Amino acid sequence: MRSLFLGFTLIVVAITAPMMAAQKVELSIDASKTGAKIDRNIFGQFAEHLGHGIYEGIWVGPDSKIPNTRGIRNDVVQALKAIKVPNVRWPGGCFADEYHWRKGIGPQRSVTLNPNWGGVIEANTFGTHEFMDFIDQIGAEAYVSINVGSGTPREAAEWLEYMTAAAPTTLAKERAANGHPAPYKVALLGIGNESWDCGGNMTPEYYVSQMKIYSRFVRNFNPEQQDKNQMLKIAVGPGGDGPRWTDWTETVMKAYQQHTWSWDINGLSLHNYTVGHWPPSYASVGFGETEYSQILKFTLEMDGLISKHSAIMDKYDPDKKVALIVDEWGGWYAPLPGSNPGFLVQQNSLRDAILAALNLNIFARHADRVRGANIAQMINVLQAMIITDKEKMVLTPTYYVFKMYVPFQDAAFVPVTVDAGWYTHGDVALPRVDAIAAKDTKGKLWLEVTNLDPNRPVEIEASLAGITAKSATGETLTAAKVDSVNTFGSADTVMPRAISAKVQGGKLTLKLEPKSVTVVSVEQ
Ligand code: AHR
Repeated sequence: MRSLFLGFTLIVVAITAPMMAAQKVELSIDASKTGAKIDRNIFGQFAEHLGHGIYEGIWVGPDSKIPNTRGIRNDVVQALKAIKVPNVRWPGGCFADEYHWRKGIGPQRSVTLNPNWGGVIEANTFGTHEFMDFIDQIGAEAYVSINVGSGTPREAAEWLEYMTAAAPTTLAKERAANGHPAPYKVALLGIGNESWDCGGNMTPEYYVSQMKIYSRFVRNFNPEQQDKNQMLKIAVGPGGDGPRWTDWTETVMKAYQQHTWSWDINGLSLHNYTVGHWPPSYASVGFGETEYSQILKFTLEMDGLISKHSAIMDKYDPDKKVALIVDEWGGWYAPLPGSNPGFLVQQNSLRDAILAALNLNIFARHADRVRGANIAQMINVLQAMIITDKEKMVLTPTYYVFKMYVPFQDAAFVPVTVDAGWYTHGDVALPRVDAIAAKDTKGKLWLEVTNLDPNRPVEIEASLAGITAKSATGETLTAAKVDSVNTFGSADTVMPRAISAKVQGGKLTLKLEPKSVTVVSVEQ
């Protein structure tokens, strides 16, 4: 019996051993060769009036039993402060092109509907002042999307005057009477949202004529944003890679090339969700390796999409004055069973953490052109950082990736050469490892390495030139399964944990768990 068992054990070991053997991957990094700055704005967030993204996710009202500051929940603020959110895009999305700002200010709020997202009541209790209070509490800047689809240039111009005028105009006095005498800062302005679709189904030519008008008349009057820190105006950009989208980019960028003193844009947006096929049908939890590998394959298409639109932008803007702002991205899956399909509720798994790392790395590699991005969406909607249910809150695997990447905010990109090999599953072949490196503002070198392979660990050997490396420490994020999630009852299933790395003779060695995201800092 005993020998039978031993024999069986040996067979199992023989079968599983090659699967589990660590794969060696060599990287080389020259820290003296820094490239473009990885703009902190690529770690931006998106908060739309959609489902429980704003109401319940951020806003509970001052009378709520949930601890809050002026109606904004404290637990959410505390969590978001820790990931140093650079900017929040608001109020939409499709919602923005039906938003009328006057309904969301003052003591009497108009109650309207939210036809895009479930047709529910929009109480407008979270309006301009509440949004500005929220971003102030988390330490972020405002990315305000104005209503080009169903509003007017005058309505948008007055909103900006209301928010930003310091001089005692009637609108500035109204803002003061509503509790905020000092002008607000608006760092980024979105001139419409998906104007080719939910934002008004415009042709590129029609949009361009609208864009010029809004760019001209929607002014920021904040005295602190006149010379330095000027508001950046972001035009609607493409939503895919076919001729319809390249034509859109061509039309907007051609107009930009010929722009006169009277109007300008500083950014072109790009929307790209990892969805597989519309309508979204991939499950956000309860899936296996097939769906894991397919979704990662789809997500890596972001790189080609950025390259394609960047090449068009280069033709009309070789100096790269106009940034590409990927202001909607992330995994978009089937709604969770039992949820309102209009609320875009989904779970957030280890797969999403890996997806987030791969996209952030793509943005970093395109840092000369991609100078902003906003994951969709911040709380309770799509690929969220945070999930809440009444007083309960849980941080998702994606949240932890954003936390681990904080050191990359505004760091200088350092190229990494990697011979990654392949992870294959069925007909999907993916690079086994993805990596970026950067030097932070204090000169410290940071390395991120993602092991996409869900079955095999990886032994990293990185040769480090351009610095005298002494030691390295880091954190890794992984879990038992590709679809592991954090829940209210088990909030620490997918959490980063400390790891050690060895530095010797200019080489850094590090073991990566299967399906993991790892960030390491190198001490000199
Ligand atoms: O993020 C959800 C929706 O996706 C946004 O409102 C819209 O811009 C996009 O189509």
